Amino acid sequence: GDWYLRSHKDLRRSLDAGTPLGAPDGVLINGLGPYRYNDSLVPPAIAYERINVEPGRTYRLRVHNVGVSTSLNFRIQGHSLLLVETEGSYTSQQNYSNMDIHVGQSYSFLVTMDQNASTDYYVVASARFVTDPGAVDKLTGVAILHYSNSQGPASGPLPAAPDDQYDTAFSINQARSIRWNVTDDATFWFVFVWNVTTDVLL
Ligand SMILES: *[C@@H]1O[C@H](CO)[C@@H](O)[C@H](O)[C@H]1NC(C)=O
Ligand SMILES: *[C@@H]1O[C@H](CO)[C@@H](O)[C@H](O)[C@H]1NC(C)=O
Ligand SMILES: *[C@@H]1O[C@H](CO)[C@@H](O)[C@H](O)[C@H]1NC(C)=O
Ligand SMILES: *[C@@H]1O[C@H](CO)[C@@H](O)[C@H](O)[C@H]1NC(C)=O
Repeated sequence: GDWYLRSHKDLRRSLDAGTPLGAPDGVLINGLGPYRYNDSLVPPAIAYERINVEPGRTYRLRVHNVGVSTSLNFRIQGHSLLLVETEGSYTSQQNYSNMDIHVGQSYSFLVTMDQNASTDYYVVASARFVTDPGAVDKLTGVAILHYSNSQGPASGPLPAAPDDQYDTAFSINQARSIRWNVTDDATFWFVFVWNVTTDVLL
């Protein structure tokens, strides 16, 4: 989620006065600040999220954008995100290398730990559609994916965001590529019950 240094009371006063909140001051992952992936961009001694995993296993990651203003692009260096669920419905299972997650949206990904753990890997959530390009560095949340047999810290540049920073077509097309999994039992019963309920109400 995005994060403001101002207190919630200050933010509320702005909104009550009809003043937009403006850009946030940072992006947090599980409430923690960015891993120091670049010494000149990230100050030292910031607590960051570390996700510990075992090689070869598959994990379900639930990813929510809990911010108030910023669309985020989520990605994990060297790993595919197999989308299986969004907003409580199972989806057709498709791999993505990154996913735009807008404010309030929720996704579940199955992530297989299929890399060789020569290093740790970056987990990134960076702001989309930011008009000031310099602000994206500040609006980048970075956590660490740590294999139990990892041979060293994550290194190198962060995995790149979609490069059409100001082009909404990428985001819209990606959202349109998501399909309901209508053969999954849980989805079937959800649709069935919803239809019956709306029929009764109508
Ligand atoms: C750190 O970020 C600065 C500013 O964007 C960039 O010039 C520099 O190359 C980066 N350093 C590394 C090691 O990537
Ligand atoms: C998704 O990618 C993984 C590799 O990370 C692969 O094993 C799997 O078969 C792919 N699944 C689909 C549905 O494309
Ligand atoms: C739909 O869900 C079922 C049950 O979870 C799964 O076996 C199947 O692969 C899914 N279908 C697609 C197209 O992802
Ligand atoms: C596996 O690790 C070595 C270093 O130990 C690295 O050079 C190589 O690129 C890695 N391969 C993959 C597929 O990540």
